[in-house]
Amino acid sequence: MTHYPTDLDQAEAQLARQRLTELADRFTENGDLRTAQWRQAFLCTWRHPYVPAYYPYLDQPPVLCIDPERRETWLNAVYSDETLVTKVQPIPLSRAFRPATGWMYTSSSTLPSLVLRMLESLDVHDGHRVLEIGTGSGYNCALLCQRLGSEQVTSVDIDPELVDLASERLAANGHTPTLAATDGAEGYPDGAPYDRIISTCAVRSIPAAWLNQTAPGAIILTDVHGPLGGTLARLTVDADGTATGPFVPYWSGFMQMRRTVQPETPNRHQWGDDEPTRSTTDIDPAPLREHGLFGFVVQWHLPDVSRGFGTTDDGHPALYLFAPDGSEATIETDTTNGRHQVTETGPRRLWRAVEQVHQFWQNAGQPSYERFGIIATPAEQYVWLDTPNGPHRWSL
Ligand SMILES: C[S@@+](CC[C@H](N)C(=O)[O-])C[C@H]1O[C@@H](n2cnc3c(N)ncnc32)[C@H](O)[C@@H]1O
Repeated sequence: MTHYPTDLDQAEAQLARQRLTELADRFTENGDLRTAQWRQAFLCTWRHPYVPAYYPYLDQPPVLCIDPERRETWLNAVYSDETLVTKVQPIPLSRAFRPATGWMYTSSSTLPSLVLRMLESLDVHDGHRVLEIGTGSGYNCALLCQRLGSEQVTSVDIDPELVDLASERLAANGHTPTLAATDGAEGYPDGAPYDRIISTCAVRSIPAAWLNQTAPGAIILTDVHGPLGGTLARLTVDADGTATGPFVPYWSGFMQMRRTVQPETPNRHQWGDDEPTRSTTDIDPAPLREHGLFGFVVQWHLPDVSRGFGTTDDGHPALYLFAPDGSEATIETDTTNGRHQVTETGPRRLWRAVEQVHQFWQNAGQPSYERFGIIATPAEQYVWLDTPNGPHRWSL
């Protein structure tokens, strides 16, 4: 990645200022911005120095601020309420797809409304020490520095190039937080204890290091997500280091935290070859294709299950569920007489398990995100329904 100068001319700066004010007004009206302090920080922090380029499509060249033909597009995008992908990397594809290249995005600047909603929910006060996991473009870090002062802010990212660029951009705009290129799952012990930890990448469970590096009363705000679903959880750490709290009442999805050592995944083609069972279901699999509440509920019951989408051999659109033990289910998303065809194989009947979760969820009154929460100690973690020590909880 290259460093691009992002200075605006007078007319551009005027437009950017106007757009920033419009966004602030909109976010104040809809409740994403709630306090004068964050409104002030938002209005004082340009986004464009942190997003000199973005990728509208993963496999196409970026829109660059230095491209005169796309300059206006760039500026409009930066001052809109959009997530902008800021780094993409090629990924290896299976032999069947070569020589095509696969791409994945590895960093993005989150849409400002969500950034602000999260910062408001973090409930920071003057003098708080904050650790951000996922520096990315540096924009969120700049807002934190603007609000609390650079000396209160530490931000880490696993990608050293992003940290270098963010460091330059932040310094050019008067911010000098502590930055480090390191795996955020380890926190950053040198700056501990923190009063707040905010993660802008998703975790499967709360890293023990975060619990160990927070002060009593601290808040941890992070997306907790598995392959089927998740959203932000806001946990409060008590004096003995236990963190407890609910999920937020809305869906949100950040990119998954990358680990330096990836867990082994079995080779799908070597999985069990037992006789498949066929059945039909009247439960619509579509909600599991989308990001949403039902996937979130299923995630905690079936934490090792992943999903995929495709077409069956006879051309029906389908949802695939699969687990490391070789269990697989294919559920056609179109219907015959209101029912979906299901094919299951392997040691567990995955769709049957999803149906049981559906029944549980119906019986519980279709609880939404905020009725679920997390309790985490360094030794064990659970997702709970309604109360941390009630009858309904699932190990994370
Ligand atoms: C959504 S982006 C962050 C957005 C950022 N806060 C901003 O304002 O632009 C998520 C970031 O998490 C980083 N990340 C992924 N895995 C990580 C890990 N294990 N430790 C620290 N950062 C990680 C990615 O490199 C990426 O930059």
